[in-house]
Amino acid sequence: MTKKSNKDKVGNFPTLNHKNDNNEAYGLYIHIPFCPYKCHYCDFLTFSHADKKIDTYMSYLFREVKMYENQGIRLDSIFIGGGTPSYIDSRYIVELMKLIRKIFIVDSDSEISIEMNPNTLTVEKIRDYVNAGINRFSLGVQTFDDKTLKILGRSHTKDIVMEDIKLLRENGAKNISIDMMLANPGQDMKILEKDLENILQVDINHISYYTLILEDRTLFKHWLDKGTIKLFDDDLERDMFHRVVKKLEENGFNRYEISNFAKTGMESKHNKKYWKQTPYLAIGLGASASYEDVRTKNFSKFAEYFEAIDNGKLPIEIIENLSMEDREKEFIIMNMRLKNGFYIDDINKRFGIDFLVKYQDIVEKHKSYGTVAITDGRFRFTDYGLDVTNSFYIDII
Ligand SMILES: C[S@@+](CC[C@H](N)C(=O)[O-])C[C@H]1O[C@@H](n2cnc3c(N)ncnc32)[C@H](O)[C@@H]1O
Ligand code: SF4
Repeated sequence: MTKKSNKDKVGNFPTLNHKNDNNEAYGLYIHIPFCPYKCHYCDFLTFSHADKKIDTYMSYLFREVKMYENQGIRLDSIFIGGGTPSYIDSRYIVELMKLIRKIFIVDSDSEISIEMNPNTLTVEKIRDYVNAGINRFSLGVQTFDDKTLKILGRSHTKDIVMEDIKLLRENGAKNISIDMMLANPGQDMKILEKDLENILQVDINHISYYTLILEDRTLFKHWLDKGTIKLFDDDLERDMFHRVVKKLEENGFNRYEISNFAKTGMESKHNKKYWKQTPYLAIGLGASASYEDVRTKNFSKFAEYFEAIDNGKLPIEIIENLSMEDREKEFIIMNMRLKNGFYIDDINKRFGIDFLVKYQDIVEKHKSYGTVAITDGRFRFTDYGLDVTNSFYIDII
């Protein structure tokens, strides 16, 4: 894999000349790096107390979108994420969507998602989103337990979440997904059971259920080092996740990816692009794109991001050119996150290999552990394997 900094480049990055001979539709990720507050567990590239920067940032973001003009790029999914896109004035989102439709060819059946925090929504914002063609609404709930929400550093309560979901429904935002978190400090089986009851009560289409990752540079890490909070016992964490899977599957949610559950036909088209190694572009501070053999990452500092755009360049800081071997491994690792894994025929055609011969030792070893299986021509993790993915991934790498 070769990495290059854009600082050495003259003129535009070859993205603008990329080949798309089969006119494949791309995904587009847009990053809005602003939040009303910083949650105690989060190390995403996002800023609270930076409201003064919003207007300037959005004007640069629009200029970055315009750099894709006349490329004939077709999109079938757009994800406006962050950060908290619902925190900023909805006129920016309306303008952004208008511009995207002007610059790209947006398929009429595109999935267009926006990430939102409870406590940031109004009737006007929701109507603006719906009128702008946004058709998937992802609300960060995390837990319905008010005490745990405080520990997480969230400003909302269960009642606000319930109110917001009602508001979304009443104003035409019907396709709702929620983000939930597991193994939060203060959470126990009782709280988890209540969370699950509440999820079923709100009747949504999709749930992302993330296990807490203790990130450096967060208040949680500081508290852990001081002994104020403790990490969850692995067994309890696993028991909790099993309970989540069982309860959600009993109630019509299919676990289609390690952390994602959906009612039939409601899987996220955009997120599937990440896992299936299909191409997506990315616009905004620190945003990462992937297409063909290229992986890129935009500048993460406002000044550098602005400077690149002022110089008429795409604000790409890092370009990685993946070898065929890198892409093959990436294909295996990302596709295996999906419950159905991948078709062996697919990987063979795509990379000109015989998967079962090339990876024979690894496949046999993990089959004997009961962690992988071949079903209807697909290679996938078993339910047990989804709990212990690491040892397989280590062997592949
Ligand atoms: C980047 S946030 C954006 C959504 C929105 N700002 C919100 O907080 O609701 C997307 C989701 O990532 C999850 N997340 C963030 N940090 C995490 C961590 N350290 N461990 C597990 N999940 C995390 C949360 O569930 C969050 O809703
Ligand atoms: S979890 Fe969401 S609201 Fe909290 S800091 Fe991260 S991006 Fe912002």
